[in-house]
Amino acid sequence: MNIVFFSSKPYDEIWFTPLCKDYGYNPIYLESKLDEHTAPLASEGDAICAFVNDDLSANTIKALSKCNIQGIFMRCAGFNNVDLDACHMYKIPVMRVPGYSPEAVAEFAMGLYLTVNRRIHRAYTRTRDFNMNINGLMGHDIHNKVAGIIGTGKIGQAMINICKGFGMQVIAYDPFPVGNLDVKYTPLDYLFANSDFISLHCPLTEGTKYIINEDSISKMHDGVYIVNTSRGKLIKTDALLNALLTPGKIGGVGLDVYEEESDLYYEDKSNEIMEDEKLARLTTFPNVIITSHQGYFTREAMQSIAIETMENAYALFNNLPLRNQVLRNHQ
Ligand code: NAI
Repeated sequence: MNIVFFSSKPYDEIWFTPLCKDYGYNPIYLESKLDEHTAPLASEGDAICAFVNDDLSANTIKALSKCNIQGIFMRCAGFNNVDLDACHMYKIPVMRVPGYSPEAVAEFAMGLYLTVNRRIHRAYTRTRDFNMNINGLMGHDIHNKVAGIIGTGKIGQAMINICKGFGMQVIAYDPFPVGNLDVKYTPLDYLFANSDFISLHCPLTEGTKYIINEDSISKMHDGVYIVNTSRGKLIKTDALLNALLTPGKIGGVGLDVYEEESDLYYEDKSNEIMEDEKLARLTTFPNVIITSHQGYFTREAMQSIAIETMENAYALFNNLPLRNQVLRNHQ
């Protein structure tokens, strides 16, 4: 069986090549992002493997069906970039890796908060220049501060544990609360109004798009910290930029994801003119850190993604139950 990997990077091949060999599958690695124009490159494949910024909208799925693709393996947890109605129509099952290492993402989210709060990113550049002045680098204790966690699934729960470890008070919002979770669930507006630090861990859906917007930001108190390691479109960038320009409103922001990241992230654009003015503007704030969707990027997570993807392939190619299949109306 041939599996065509789109958006493939050398670090993907390191993990997938030996496993494909073990399972008897032939990987075909393509650097191209998947979209309706590149989908015909899958014609050599029995299935494809895609990632977070591939475009699996209806036209792409139609083009994949013309290549007789039997299945789509998402090597990630999120599937907001997949048109599940089209997959249903063309009878192409979609599988994902639901929980490869929630800790990897939660640890990274806390890392962003710690870094931006204590201005470690700025201290790093100063000391490399032997500028040992600490003016402007004052942060706050996070002990006893209130963490507001939006989305209490696997990553949100890992984040709650980490926040508790730092002695924070934790409140949470999730429309589907977890029964026995030791956390105080609150209405969303209460969370906005009472959190010193807000961390986003819900999926991107029609209901969560721009959950951070002008209105929700106006409910937050001055000096709030916001970290997004989930999906870029959870935050309306224009609203965030306006808030950052309001003196004292925002303590700091950590963004591992950005709403227009799909053509930028995972690529080296350092020799090009940055055309995305909002991203360029965001990078100018001393209290904003941007990383390019690397929250998942640990050895443990990569290994787990590769193993679970191979298990998904094995199930598909052997007509076994598809336990990681994503169906229409999946929450
Ligand atoms: P999960 O499915 O275990 O949990 C998601 C939670 O969000 C569920 O409890 C669900 O009820 C809740 N939710 C749904 N609608 C909501 C709403 N309107 N408001 C608040 N909560 C809502 O997913 P998991 O594994 O915890 O991942 C969360 C997200 O993290 C993924 O959807 C993905 O977008 C992102 N992610 C980012 C990575 C990175 O590298 N930065 C890596 C992996 C995932």
